[in-house]
Amino acid sequence: MPDREDPTATDRGGEADIAVHWQEEPMVAPPRAVRRPPHLADPTLKPRFASARFPGSFEAYAEMLTWSRRWDRTLDADRPPFYRWFPGGRLNASVNCIDRHLPDRAASPALVFVPEPESEAPEVLTYQDLYDRVNALAAYLHRGLGAVPGERVTLHLPMTPELPIAMLACARLGLPHSVVFSGFSGEACGLRIADSQSRFLITMDGYFRNGRWVDLRRAAERAYQVAHAEGHPPEKVLVLPRRPGHARWEPTLRPRVEIDLEAELQSYRSAREVAQDLPSDHPLFLMYTSGTTGRPKGVQHNLGGYLAYAAGTTYYYQDLDPDDVYWCMADIGWITGHTYIVYGPLALGAQVVLYEGVPTWPDAERPWRISEQLGVTVFHTSPTAIRQLRRLAPSGPGRHRTRFRLLTSVGEPIEPETWHWYFSEVGRGRAALVDAWWQTETGGILCATAPGVDPMKPGSAGPGALGIFPEIRDEEGRVIPPGSGRAGALVIPNPWPGQMAGIWGDPQRYVETYYRRFNLHPESTDWRDWPYVTGDGAVQAMDGYIRILGRMDDVINVAGHRLGAKEIESACLTVHAVAEAAVVPVSDPVKGRCPEVYIALRPGFEPSLDLADRVTRAVETTIGKIARPTRVWFVPDMPKTRSGKILRRVLAAISNRRPSGDLTTLANPEVVAEIEQLVRTARERSDAEAGRQ
Ligand code: PRX
Repeated sequence: MPDREDPTATDRGGEADIAVHWQEEPMVAPPRAVRRPPHLADPTLKPRFASARFPGSFEAYAEMLTWSRRWDRTLDADRPPFYRWFPGGRLNASVNCIDRHLPDRAASPALVFVPEPESEAPEVLTYQDLYDRVNALAAYLHRGLGAVPGERVTLHLPMTPELPIAMLACARLGLPHSVVFSGFSGEACGLRIADSQSRFLITMDGYFRNGRWVDLRRAAERAYQVAHAEGHPPEKVLVLPRRPGHARWEPTLRPRVEIDLEAELQSYRSAREVAQDLPSDHPLFLMYTSGTTGRPKGVQHNLGGYLAYAAGTTYYYQDLDPDDVYWCMADIGWITGHTYIVYGPLALGAQVVLYEGVPTWPDAERPWRISEQLGVTVFHTSPTAIRQLRRLAPSGPGRHRTRFRLLTSVGEPIEPETWHWYFSEVGRGRAALVDAWWQTETGGILCATAPGVDPMKPGSAGPGALGIFPEIRDEEGRVIPPGSGRAGALVIPNPWPGQMAGIWGDPQRYVETYYRRFNLHPESTDWRDWPYVTGDGAVQAMDGYIRILGRMDDVINVAGHRLGAKEIESACLTVHAVAEAAVVPVSDPVKGRCPEVYIALRPGFEPSLDLADRVTRAVETTIGKIARPTRVWFVPDMPKTRSGKILRRVLAAISNRRPSGDLTTLANPEVVAEIEQLVRTARERSDAEAGRQ
């Protein structure tokens, strides 16, 4: 039954089909130079999080926070898969990330902002500065604009201090924020504004990226139009300047809609805004992510559970001390930045580096220069960034006096070769390396090794994190025993506090997407009947370590950024000449995976460079440059099943230079040879051209 609607079916050509190409590697012991953090080396730690202690074990995470009222129950699991963590408890995230640190750390750095242009000096914001600026913005939103708890705010902001400030100002007032990655187009931003029905959009005139000024304000215009067309325009568009006093924009939206936020904030500079005392299950934020359908979904995280999990996992897996200088190079526009730049580290009172630009500007040694200058001790990035830095400057790290004690890799599988370079060259064999596996939906790390304590296995994320007991299941839902070498669907059987609370406005989709597959009793009110389905394929070794193979669904993980194949396909279909589009993941030596597009044209249209260009541009304007396909192939027809479904698996095989496998279910098997021939000829031509240059 190759055309079934089954997330583990192999007709989709998902990433897990391409799979990682490395074998199980031997363990690497934590370097002796690395300290063994006493709280992690404590032999009672893992037993305290044993499954028999669930869910009470997670109270240890909640205890790390400051609550105005303690919770009545640890977990309300009466209506699975809708869970409420720490119900009855009340708290505020901005109080936890700022106010409570003031007695001890008002003058300590909270954020160290490093602008991309090296001519601009780093800017330090102490916890007091952060408090002042968050209060000013919260006061304006509340008193100036009348914001009330529960109203959503979309933030389309770059990696400057204004982004965490805006998030924490929203959190102070109980306004769920929805941060849209600054690299996303105005159109993508507009759709997210409309879906979340945000009352406000906060944005900036622009920012620096790769040595160039990126005009973000123009995206706001488009976002406004799109949200308007969707029936939910934001009431206000608040624009900040990238450099205070140097606004680079002219208002063009209606006068009462577009607001110069810098000017408004002048009157609130020393304002203090009382933090809302919020219930634990109040929504803290939405984070839109790609799924199997064209429409991105708003993953909702609730205050108490999420913040407890962010703080707890930062404490155990990033092992941050107030003396550490911590730099996570991810963008706050993705979940990694939410949890491991903003909420987790600030909840612990850490010192956080915020870098505006790309790691390779102006050269691939920039991260090591910044790390040396600022004395970074804990460094966190993605395999794509590591591969890029290695390729461009393999001995770059050795030329700098860095003093890393902990390194993290997140977002994609890291191949052993890259792992070893990160460990030996960047960490000089003296830093622990954490390969952290998790997802937007999981709120925090779910698989990783305890730094300095657990042995590491290159190419494998670690075992389940504290209180997490991952399983691999086969197509029938049977657990595949660890060590059998068989791949399957990665599943998390029990709830945990960082788990998403739902999909914004679509509870049904939440249940269908994440729980239906292995749920045998739809009426059951026992959480054991509702295992969380991650969408990843994986293999579990005898020792419990998990090797992630990639997505089994229509999600493509490009350079650690999640893109929906369907989203890219819908963008291609906006070009009139395109009749059908199929997007497949292709292995890439730097980005891990890249999208390639197959296009069948309407009758009367001929393939041309111009059309390929129009398809590429359609993807860029609808989603953003990150989704740009690496190749656009025009094909005479798509390989299809008899029921008319495109068999992406076959296209993915051609793109990845693999045999196309079983073609017996195809209605038009002859087209496969034609496509293979066409792709081969084009490749030979471009190889020949590359050779001539
Ligand atoms: O396929 C897995 C991959 O990234 C997906 C989640 O993407 P996103 O929601 O954007 O969150 C990224 C930041 C956590 C997963 O389904 N992934 C994430 N971390 C790893 C990984 N694949 C392999 N190894 C990892 N450490």
